[in-house]
Formats: sequence, C-alpha cells, structure tokens
Amino acid sequence: MRIFIAGASGAIGRPLIRQLRERGHAVVGMTRSNTAAIEALGADAAIADAFDSEAVRVAVEAAQPDVVVNELTDLGSPLNPRKYEDWLAGTNRLRREGTRNLVDAATAAGASKLVAQSVAFAYTFEPGTKTEDSPIHGPAAGEMGAAMEELERQTLAAPGGIVLRYGFFYGPGTGYSRGGQQIDLIRKRKMPIVGGGAGQFPFIHVEDAASATVAAVERGAPGIYNVVDDEPAAARDWIPYVAELVGAKKPWRVPAWAARLAAGRMAGFATRLQPVSNAKAKDELGWQPRYASWREGFRAELG
Ligand SMILES: NC(=O)c1ccc[n+]([C@@H]2O[C@H](COP(=O)([O-])OP(=O)(O)OC[C@H]3O[C@@H](n4cnc5c(N)ncnc54)[C@H](OP(=O)(O)O)[C@@H]3O)[C@@H](O)[C@H]2O)c1
Repeated sequence: MRIFIAGASGAIGRPLIRQLRERGHAVVGMTRSNTAAIEALGADAAIADAFDSEAVRVAVEAAQPDVVVNELTDLGSPLNPRKYEDWLAGTNRLRREGTRNLVDAATAAGASKLVAQSVAFAYTFEPGTKTEDSPIHGPAAGEMGAAMEELERQTLAAPGGIVLRYGFFYGPGTGYSRGGQQIDLIRKRKMPIVGGGAGQFPFIHVEDAASATVAAVERGAPGIYNVVDDEPAAARDWIPYVAELVGAKKPWRVPAWAARLAAGRMAGFATRLQPVSNAKAKDELGWQPRYASWREGFRAELG
C-alpha cells in the first residue's frame, strides 16, 4: 500500500515508518523541515506546513496514497503543569485546522482510509472501565477537549475514518525514556503521588502504538479503537515503580487540593483517571501489544 504520514518525524511517526517499511509498504512522510529523519527510515519526505492547506493538498496529491495517517502534535516544548492549556494551544490548532486540511487533501486525492491520533485519557471520570462507547470530556474540558472532539468528528466523517485513542506514550523519543522530561521529574522527586494516587493511567509503548497503527492501516474497519496496554497503572503504583528503576528516592505525597492549586486540570489525571479497555483493538484489529504491561515495558526501557 501507499501510505502518507503527517507527523512522520515525531515520536510515533518514526517507529511507524520503520514498521510500515518492514512490511513492504511505500511511505511518504510530511514534515516542515526534518527530511533527514524520514529518509533515514526508508521513506520519501514531503515538505509542507499542516496549516498551509494548498501545500498539504499538493503533497498528498503527489503521493497518491491509499491511506493518510494523521500523527500531528505540537508537544515538543517542556510541559509546565501550571500552563497545561497554553502548552496545548498549538496542538489544539493542529487538531482543528491541520485535521481539516488533511481530510480535504485525502478526500481530493481519493485516499480510501484516514487514520488519526487521539488519546485514551480524555474519558470522563465516572467510575468504571472505559470502552470506545464511553463519553469523552469534549468542550467541558475547555479548548483542549473541544479540539479533540473536533479532530475525532472530522476524521470519522472522512472516507474510511479511524480514530486511534492512544494511551500515554513511553519508550524511545518520548518523555518517558532515559533522559525524557517525565523520567527526569521522577528522578528529581518532582512528580508526587497526589491524594491516594488512584488515577489509572493508560500506558502504551510507542512501538506497540505503531504496531496497532499498522494493523489499523492494513485491516481496520472505520471507527474508534483504544490503543493501550493490558494493565491500567495506578499513580500510586507506577510512580514509585519508575522511581525505583531509575534509582530515585520514593516520591513525595501531596494532598489533592494542593495539586489542584498547582496543576489545575492535570491534577485530575492523578486521582480520577479510570481504567481503559483495549479489547476492541485486540479483537477487531487482531493486535497484541509486545509489552502487555507497563511494568515489563518500563523495566526494558529504564531498568
Ligand atoms: N499519547 C501520548 O502520550 C503522546 C502523543 C503525542 C506526543 N506525545 C509526546 O509529546 C512529546 C513530543 O512529541 P513528538 O516528539 O512527536 O514531537 P511534536 O513536536 O509533538 O511533533 C510531532 C509531529 O508533528 C509534526 N508537526 C507539528 N506541527 C506541524 C506543522 N505545523 N506542520 C507539519 N507538521 C507538523 C512534526 O513535524 P516537523 O517538526 O518535522 O515538521 C512531528 O512530525 C514526546 O514526549 C511524545 O512522547 C505523547
């Protein structure tokens, strides 16, 4: 197949190119400037800014893809939890305008499928395991929720539209790798356990996120799929586990009210995230993560 990837040079784009090339697919990767990262993996590079609708149209038209994959984010700058919503502004714009430009270009070029990145940590906090049918925050979570909902809506309305709700990435090129931002925070004892640490984080190794994306590209039916590992990770379990792996002291504990003052919405993750099910991706995409649990995956990356 011929695959066009927007966001090809990023944390998920790079393993995705490699896995698609290993399976014999032809890949064109879109970037604003980082052609070397894409060509080194055996793909052709196409230069376009996602906000330039004409450049995106020309790039997709030239690639003549069967499938267009949207892995666009703008999350490269360090995260300050006090400014979480400002930090997401560029990504929100990509989710609205970048998605629209890609959907228009994919449709004009006659692509039969469009696969887009969403997240598995936007479900509402009512207790219980979340499936693809569970409600997401949407505009109740401000512009970040509204933009996410817009990305999903536009993608699902496109021919062959598939939304992949990935868990928190870990592994090479992510913030949860040796030298990555989150791991450094844990090493410096700057990532506390909030309240009882009951929030259940959905993690996924980037190689497993990439293999699920390959499955969606090759044989996914339109719809939404959660791409997370088998074991939801309670904050009170995974933060100390990682601290021990990297030789850090035990994490501090802070009351939930203090975390809310310091980190606003982000504090909700730490105490209120609910477990997410990957049953649909396993059953319908025939996908299995190599790291069924973050425990093995983090040990392999950090131990
Ligand atoms: N589910 C998750 O947990 C999740 C999801 C995504 C990212 N992250 C994390 O966020 C951090 C940064 O991610 P990242 O390394 O993938 O980098 P990033 O800065 O978020 O960029 C991702 C991709 O989007 C492309 N892009 C951004 N703006 C664009 C624009 N205007 N036009 C065209 N392309 C554009 C970039 O291409 P060029 O810069 O080459 O143009 C790059 O290929 C990592 O720690 C990663 O793990 C986490």
